[in-house]
Amino acid sequence: MFWLYLTVICSVVATSAQQSAPPPFDIRIDHYKVDTTKDLVINTPRPGLSWKLPIFTERNVQQTAYQIQIQSDIDKWDSEKILSSRSTHVSHENMKDLQSSTHYQIRLRVWTTLSGQASSWTNWIQFRTSVFNLHEYIMQKNDDVYWIGSTQIYMNELRKEFNVSSTSPIRTATVLISGIGYYELYVNGQSVDPSRKLDPGWTTYEKRTLMVSYDLTSMIKGGMNAVGVKLGNGWYSQEQYVPPSASEPNYGPPRLMFALSIVFVSSETMSVVSDQTWKGRQGSIVHDSVYNGEIVDSRNDRVDWAKVGFNDSFSLWVTPEIMQSPINVAANGQLSLQDMPPIRAGVDALQFEIDNPLNLENSYLSKEDLAGIQGGNLHDGGVLKPISVSTPVLGVHTFDMGQNMVGWCRFHFHGPRGLGIYIRHAEVLAQPVESTKQSYGGIYTENLRGATQTDSYILRGDPNGEIYEPRFTVHGFRYISVYGSPVGLSVNDVECPVVHSQTTVKGHFASSNPIINQIQHNVQWGQLGNSMSLPTDCPQRDERKGWMGDAALTVNEALYNFDLIKFYLNFLNLITDIQLADGSIADTVPVTFGGYPSDPNWGTALPTITWQLYRHYNDEQILRDHYSSIRAYVEALRAGYKNTGLAKLAYHYGDWVPPPPQPMTNVYLIASFAFMHDVSLLINMSQIIGFTNDTQAYTGFYTQLAEEFHRVFFTPSGGYYADGMQAAQILALALPNVVPASARDSVFQHLLQDINAKGNHTSTGIVSTAQLFPLLSDNGQHNLAVQLVSSTTYPSYGYMFNNPYENATTMWELWDAPMEGPGMNSRNHHMFASIGAWFYSHLAGIDFQSDLIVIHPRMVSEDKKHLLSKIDCQLNTLYGLVHVSYTRDERNTFANSILLRVSIPTNAKAHVVFEPLFPNAKCVLLTESNKVMWSITNKDNTVSHDAQTGLMTVQIGSGEYEYQAFWE
Ligand SMILES: *[C@@H]1O[C@H](CO)[C@@H](O)[C@H](O)[C@H]1NC(C)=O
Ligand SMILES: *[C@@H]1O[C@H](CO)[C@@H](O)[C@H](O)[C@H]1NC(C)=O
Ligand SMILES: *[C@@H]1O[C@H](CO)[C@@H](O)[C@H](O)[C@H]1NC(C)=O
Ligand SMILES: *[C@@H]1O[C@H](CO)[C@@H](O)[C@H](O)[C@H]1NC(C)=O
Repeated sequence: MFWLYLTVICSVVATSAQQSAPPPFDIRIDHYKVDTTKDLVINTPRPGLSWKLPIFTERNVQQTAYQIQIQSDIDKWDSEKILSSRSTHVSHENMKDLQSSTHYQIRLRVWTTLSGQASSWTNWIQFRTSVFNLHEYIMQKNDDVYWIGSTQIYMNELRKEFNVSSTSPIRTATVLISGIGYYELYVNGQSVDPSRKLDPGWTTYEKRTLMVSYDLTSMIKGGMNAVGVKLGNGWYSQEQYVPPSASEPNYGPPRLMFALSIVFVSSETMSVVSDQTWKGRQGSIVHDSVYNGEIVDSRNDRVDWAKVGFNDSFSLWVTPEIMQSPINVAANGQLSLQDMPPIRAGVDALQFEIDNPLNLENSYLSKEDLAGIQGGNLHDGGVLKPISVSTPVLGVHTFDMGQNMVGWCRFHFHGPRGLGIYIRHAEVLAQPVESTKQSYGGIYTENLRGATQTDSYILRGDPNGEIYEPRFTVHGFRYISVYGSPVGLSVNDVECPVVHSQTTVKGHFASSNPIINQIQHNVQWGQLGNSMSLPTDCPQRDERKGWMGDAALTVNEALYNFDLIKFYLNFLNLITDIQLADGSIADTVPVTFGGYPSDPNWGTALPTITWQLYRHYNDEQILRDHYSSIRAYVEALRAGYKNTGLAKLAYHYGDWVPPPPQPMTNVYLIASFAFMHDVSLLINMSQIIGFTNDTQAYTGFYTQLAEEFHRVFFTPSGGYYADGMQAAQILALALPNVVPASARDSVFQHLLQDINAKGNHTSTGIVSTAQLFPLLSDNGQHNLAVQLVSSTTYPSYGYMFNNPYENATTMWELWDAPMEGPGMNSRNHHMFASIGAWFYSHLAGIDFQSDLIVIHPRMVSEDKKHLLSKIDCQLNTLYGLVHVSYTRDERNTFANSILLRVSIPTNAKAHVVFEPLFPNAKCVLLTESNKVMWSITNKDNTVSHDAQTGLMTVQIGSGEYEYQAFWE
């Protein structure tokens, strides 16, 4: 009845809205983009809403008001018109709390400064809420829902049939499922979500095991139904490779929990749960391992296994055992909803909210500028085809994917029943033999260490050929060797879906410098491949851990390139899951490796990720949610500090992997850097959320630490810090208010001299490399920063794809990978990808101050403009697309001039900052769309000019702008 009434209302509004402005778009509910989320499940009664306003030809368009309507079967709510310019994280006071387990629809419209008339309404957006108190809900059902599995056989296929006998139609059918390590769910013979893989996410299972909710309303029917679940070992019963001293849990065989709840129109209910009425067997997967691949005997596939009436007289289907719950309730463990986008394969894994970079209409770059990037293209649909195949040895086919990728391959095989085919994956080819300079063309797998990354497939002998695609493993590779195919294979027999946590590309950065473009390519591919339900260090060898240092170093880059907020919020929960009572956390999360308590530069992931999420998304709630655990963590560091002082602060790794033969600088200085960095973040956070007492207390503490740092680590005789190595100077200078004004110049000069003395090369490890580029650009040495990033000689980023051995398409773990042995030598380790943030923050110059967008591009001086004359950058913010592009060359009639194009989305405010093109340069003319804005004689007051720094700042609202600035 209510629905009918609504339909009438909708059509009235639609007809009367013909002249109104288009509706807002890209709606987000609790950070989920509704456009890219099938079956949106909201896990909070008060989600924040964000939306973007359409683009107008007029400039400076702001929202003046909005209206939100929400409704369910039994309730509805209308905000009425609310006068406000706010379009992000709106969670209005008079909004009612959403109810648990309810289907809702929502729509909204806005008013802008352009007209008194409302925009059209958005379409009704469907979403539903989860069971908010999921843990209690399942615990209350304790008497009938069980974890099931087997300790006797490898039970990885379970099934059940049930009769939906009510004569009333089904209103909703919702299932909560967890199958650990991994599961796949089938209903009436169909996979419920085929591109969803390696689900649920990896956690510290005894603390938190994730359940997933699916809406099965359209898949369950009256009468008999069948559900089937495949299980894999995943990280739950992973074969582990750890030093003998470390203990890594292998919790036992896989297990399933399943709770389907059907509600009929008549209000009757019915449930189907995991219990001993199910049957299970070992399916065609004989063995599976994250590290070691799968062994599949396809003769044991039963195509109809998840259909009603399935009868299998050839396999042993047995009653499952009741298994122990993974949760340790006594230690506050809980079942919780997986509240982030899942891992997906192929085209569904990656969405875009940027324009295709090859659409060059608005860009100063040409097709030639973008040519020559080696590797796969993210825009090509998420499935790579080999670029070549060779047969180095009889019976072996080696495929080159042209890109170091993470995922697996789908093969088309042909052969007799019972024949086995073996598939190995590797990042690089074996180097030529030294004596003969000849290579046999085979793959190099030693650097995978204990991980075999091998899939074995036994054919069933289908005369039409058969397709094999792994389910419960994932590989990091560029090359694949296939052994034992009885027929020749071509590139058309192989395609490889790219696999990672589902996300949206929100940033694009390209330039006239091919080295920078290739680095950006390698950064993006490495980031995706290491986003696997949590940030990992690498995707290929027997490691793939949630190393916190790597996560902290890359989060800024990651949030410029990809929309990963829910992914990192989940990771923050995983970090606090392992936080000890004294506030300390670990080097890896889940704790599987490394120290516990953490090295300060690893533990910094907790404050750093929180801070970067706040900075990129301007959502203060994130700070409030994590403040107390961050404060506790800083207090844990302080407790250790009280025993050691900065001079002997505890550490494990220092400034990890500087380029050989360079040694590492003073390790206590490196640890002190992280500690003080975290104290300063805590000060910022306490200020923003109004804990002014903490602001005061920690500011006092920081001042004391700053004084101590200088006293302990400064070497007065040399005028530098510690042993004079680059890292020590960089980290001291990067900390606020540590280096006294009197020493700053000598410290900075010492750094520059050392870089110069090394032929413009760095000697930095992962911690100081991340600080180096912003430091140089912010302190008048942007030329040098660009020179360093453009280098192709060892050690440099460019060397990774300009050397005689291999052309990297992702970031190396070691600056000198080809010269190093297999012990620790990944070719897809993204910890050095920190530089990716600098492309956005300093080359394009896009930064955020609360809700203000700051655009402050840094440019090289005239004599270096061959290194970098043009850039083109898109960044999709919560307001919409920001576009920044500049050139030195177009209309190349004047030296020391630039053309800068900027687009600011509707309802956003921005400052555009023009920086002198050389020291002491003065701006003589600034035009916008060829109209003079500022000149020596005509000083428009919309431009502010800082006489001391020479910076020119223009305050703008939405619209497209084209500036030209001339400097003398
Ligand atoms: C399912 O239940 C209905 C109603 O009780 C019954 O008529 C029907 O025979 C049942 N179907 C099966 C296959 O048991
Ligand atoms: C500041 O106030 C909060 C809340 O009242 C309290 O938890 C915290 O301990 C105080 N901090 C200091 C340094 O006293
Ligand atoms: C190093 O960089 C500086 C500053 O850009 C430059 O003047 C110098 O020529 C460079 N040295 C070498 C060896 O490339
Ligand atoms: C690296 O790429 C360059 C340019 O395409 C190519 O000439 C060279 O052969 C490649 N090197 C290797 C080792 O593949």
